[in-house]
Order: sequence, then structure tokens, then C-alpha cells
Amino acid sequence: MTTMKNTLTALALASAAALAHAGEIEVLHWWTAGGEAKAATALKLTLQKSGHRWRDFAVAGGGGDSAMTVLKSRVVSGNAPSAAQIKGPSIQEWAREGVLANMDDVARAEKWNELLPPVVADVMKYKGSYVAVPVNVHRVNWLWANPAVFAKAGVKVPTTWDEFFTAADALKKAGVVPVAHGGQNWQDFTTFEAVALGVGGTDFYKKALVQLDPAALKSPTMEKVLTTFKRVKDYTDRNAPGRDWNLATAMVIKGEAAMQIMGDWAKGEFVAAGKVPGKDFVCAPAPGTARAFTFNIDSFALFQLKDADKIAAQKELARQIMAPEFQEVFNLNKGSIPVRMGMPMDKFDDCARQSAKDFGDTAKAGSLVPSIAHGMAVPSAAEGAIKDAVSQFWNTDKMSASQAMDRIAAAARTR
Ligand code: BGC
Repeated sequence: MTTMKNTLTALALASAAALAHAGEIEVLHWWTAGGEAKAATALKLTLQKSGHRWRDFAVAGGGGDSAMTVLKSRVVSGNAPSAAQIKGPSIQEWAREGVLANMDDVARAEKWNELLPPVVADVMKYKGSYVAVPVNVHRVNWLWANPAVFAKAGVKVPTTWDEFFTAADALKKAGVVPVAHGGQNWQDFTTFEAVALGVGGTDFYKKALVQLDPAALKSPTMEKVLTTFKRVKDYTDRNAPGRDWNLATAMVIKGEAAMQIMGDWAKGEFVAAGKVPGKDFVCAPAPGTARAFTFNIDSFALFQLKDADKIAAQKELARQIMAPEFQEVFNLNKGSIPVRMGMPMDKFDDCARQSAKDFGDTAKAGSLVPSIAHGMAVPSAAEGAIKDAVSQFWNTDKMSASQAMDRIAAAARTR
């Protein structure tokens, strides 16, 4: 009885303490598609459970280009949100502006250094201090396929680029759109980097697209990559320009298209539509990339705030994001895998398990590479210019691969 009373008193005190410090937290993100929105709701509910108020700052637009434009104007006008979905080298760019908050106390208490792979932890730190917290690991080099559509055309899901074009011809003849695509720069580049990895291999990928080595950017391999990339366009439909990625995924879900090259946030769409992996849809590494892994890590950068209650809410958000409960529920909806090491994977499907295994294997083998399309490696100015050049090539019928190489090499020098 006394123990019960003590427990109740402790609970009452805890919730009173939580309420006394209840703060509002405004979170900028671009998770508005089906699976993404479910994952974002998981974050909101997690935070609300600890007594804080959530203010949603969603800016629609896959890949986050619109969100980043809105964020810049908010920060410039001195009205930064508490947290914003910022990734890769952009975290350093924002930290250099002196606007991010130091999260070392949370990181120390929660042992982030021990729970994160060092390659990930380094990106979250500026001058050795945590200024951002990671949510997940997305694999980008995936091919999502509708097996019923493949069966109808009598072809199998391709594992090489040769098989890809053979299958695409058969699918076209069978009257379906072989490749569901959305003509937006970041989606064009998602396809481009998959081709670069599959046709050029990891060493080429690193030299050309991560180190931006001028010789690799203007090489016979690059020419072959660009020619292969442009061939893919013949298998997309007339309505591709401007289409959102999730609408392209919906084409595969409905069987109007056979496959999509996209990161595993696409799985979030299949799952949100009630589809079962391995039965209604299959995941396969993009052609020629089975032994490589293009990673894209979502993270939240935390901005400097003045109000003590808001700071308390912000620290609680950072703490919760790395907690095992959140890492599980969020990633089950998002299509990604937990970034926290040592998490049980029993509730995850085969695509996620394969991703987790390949993440570890490729890290050991040196074939784990950052996604350029998703802001993981190249400073943002060069990344934007390179994406523009690649999309110009995709959209301009008379541009040769050699002209495209010149433009991409020039874009890579953008500072
Ligand atoms: C983000 C994902 C998001 C996708 C589509 C990527 O850049 O990392 O979280 O689902 O864009 O919006």
C-alpha cells in the first residue's frame, strides 16, 4: 500500500514537473506523403507524451528543396524553428553561421557516441559538439517492382543494366509504363547516381561524384554512365515531367507501371497502401549495385533558442529521437532502418533486414557511399549546380553525353 502511494506521488510529481516545463517545439520537415506523414506523426506523438506542444512546420516537396528555401528565409528574419530536417554537409554550413544549438549534454547523458556509427556521429557534430541528431538510415539504390506486372510481361526483375533494358522492352510491348519516374531534379539525380554506381562501380562513384575529381567527371566511364542514364528516359511516360515521387510510386502500386528507382521511403508508400513486401511488391538493389549501398541519413539540426521552456522541449525532442521506442516505430513507417546501433530487427520486413545487413557489409568492404541526390556528400552549392546540369541533359534531346560532361565538370567547381 505504501509502495503504491509512493508510486502515485512520484507519478504526480513527475507529471507536474513535466507540465511546469511544457514548451512548444516547432519542427520543420517535408514528410507529407503517406508513409512519411505516418512517420512524422510518430515523432509528434512521442514528443507530446512527454508533455510538450508540437507545432508542425511541414513544407511539402520531395527531397526538401522547398523546405530549405523556406528555412533560409525564416532564419534570416531571426525566427528559426526549434528543429529542422537538415542533412549531411549542410549541417556544417548552418553551424558555421552560428545559429545551431549545442546538444552535448543530451548526447553525453544518452551515450550517443557509443550508439552511433562514427561516420554518422561525425556528420552530426560541428567542431566536436553535437548540433544535430540522426533519425534513420535510408538506402537510396533500390528498385521497387510490381511482380504481377513483370509476370504478365514474362520477364524477371533485372539485376544488371543489360537485363534492365531487355525487361523494359518487354514491358513496353506488354503495354505498361516500364519505369515510373517523376521529372524533378532530385529524382533525375536519384536515377543518375544509381546508374553511376551500377555502371561505373564504387571507386568511380567516389572519385567522380564524392571527390568531384575532374578527370573522372570527364572520362569514358562517365560517358557510358550518361548514355545509359539517358536510355532509361525512353521507358518513362509522357506525364513524367514534374510528377511527385509518391505519385510515381502509386503507378507501381496500381500496376500502371512496372518499377521505380527510388530510396526506401517508397516502401513507406507501399506499406501505407496496405501492400505486402515480397508479395505485392519487391525490393531489389538497383541494377549492378547489389554489393554497394548509397546511404541517406535523415537528421534534425537544433537551432539556438532563448525561451527556457522551448529549450527544454528541444532537448527532450533530441533525447526521444535516439530512444529505441521511437527509432523502431518511426522507421517501421518510414521505410528506413534505425540509425541507433544494436536495435532488434524482428518487427522489420525483409527489405529492411537486407538493408541493415548490406549497410554493415558495405561499411566493412568500403562500398558504402553517400547519396549525392540527397545531400550527403557535396557542399550544397556544387550539389545544386551538378543536379541542374544532369537534369538539363535528361531534358535536352540534342545534348550529347560529351557536352553534358563539360557542364557537369564546370558545375562541380561551383562554390
Ligand atoms: C529524405 C526522405 C524523404 C525523401 C522524399 C529525402 O531526401 O531524406 O526522408 O522521404 O526525400 O521526400
